[in-house]
Amino acid sequence: MTSTQDPSVSPTSPSDAVTAGAHATEIARSGASNLRGPAAGGVDPQRVATVVGAALEGLRSAIREQQVTYEEFDAFKQWLIAVSDTGEWPLFLDVYLEFEVEKVAAATQQGSVGTILGPFWLDGQVHLDSPATLPMRDDEPGTPMILAGQVTATDGTPLAGATVDIWHTDADGWYSGFAAAPPAGNLRGVVRCDDQGRFEIHTRKPAPYTIPLDGPTGQMTQAAGWSPWRPAHLHLLVAAPGHRTLTSQLFFTGDPYLGNDVASADKPELTLDPQPTGNGDEVRADRDFVLERET
Ligand code: DHB
Ligand code: FE
Repeated sequence: MTSTQDPSVSPTSPSDAVTAGAHATEIARSGASNLRGPAAGGVDPQRVATVVGAALEGLRSAIREQQVTYEEFDAFKQWLIAVSDTGEWPLFLDVYLEFEVEKVAAATQQGSVGTILGPFWLDGQVHLDSPATLPMRDDEPGTPMILAGQVTATDGTPLAGATVDIWHTDADGWYSGFAAAPPAGNLRGVVRCDDQGRFEIHTRKPAPYTIPLDGPTGQMTQAAGWSPWRPAHLHLLVAAPGHRTLTSQLFFTGDPYLGNDVASADKPELTLDPQPTGNGDEVRADRDFVLERET
């Protein structure tokens, strides 16, 4: 990792967290990233009382057990206000809580293992036919990488009409649409599989990523002495008509941050081991996806 983000250096711009946070908040507020659709039915008061009651009791028990002081309570208030001011609620929630929600959902799901969506998916990206090369700069840095595979149903039927929506950081750990450097749409695309559900995507290997360090989520993380790093990952939404969309990520063998992901989203089943293709320094990883029929 030569040009990867280094948490010991100051961020490229004092407004990085505010820029990323504001955009992620705008998307969350619009509901565009709620891929599972709006909640059906009204609010059940019993459910509100049970879930909100349990969450509040978790906080109250922390206060009792840790003998939290007024100074600490006031610092907590100020921190919450800063999370709002910087628009970091989606970042904070997706780093520290989404993985538990995903585990609850996964307990009743069939098909390939998934993981969290995170705050950086964007709608409206370019559609490409497989084999596809993701949009990238002429001099896009990083190791050329091919991700290839097939999308099938749980009974093994190839899923013609499947799509693989893929997004990931560049080789410096920045997401297009949320950081200043990469142009809009860089290393993002929706790839249409062939009539056998096969896909082949040409891109660049992403880099490990730190959550923004200049905002309240990153500052709290560092104040606690926790690692702010996510291992390098590809984000994927694998979809096919009549099937539940799989939200997943793929990681890389040997990544120093595997097993210590700030977002707790890495799983052993999701690790790729790309191999040289013999074409320059290009590498290739193969990965199939199994989708569950929608009920
Ligand atoms: C965050 C960033 C990610 O790249 C991701 O996949 C999940 C969460 C975050 O900064 O909140
Ligand atoms: Fe990510």
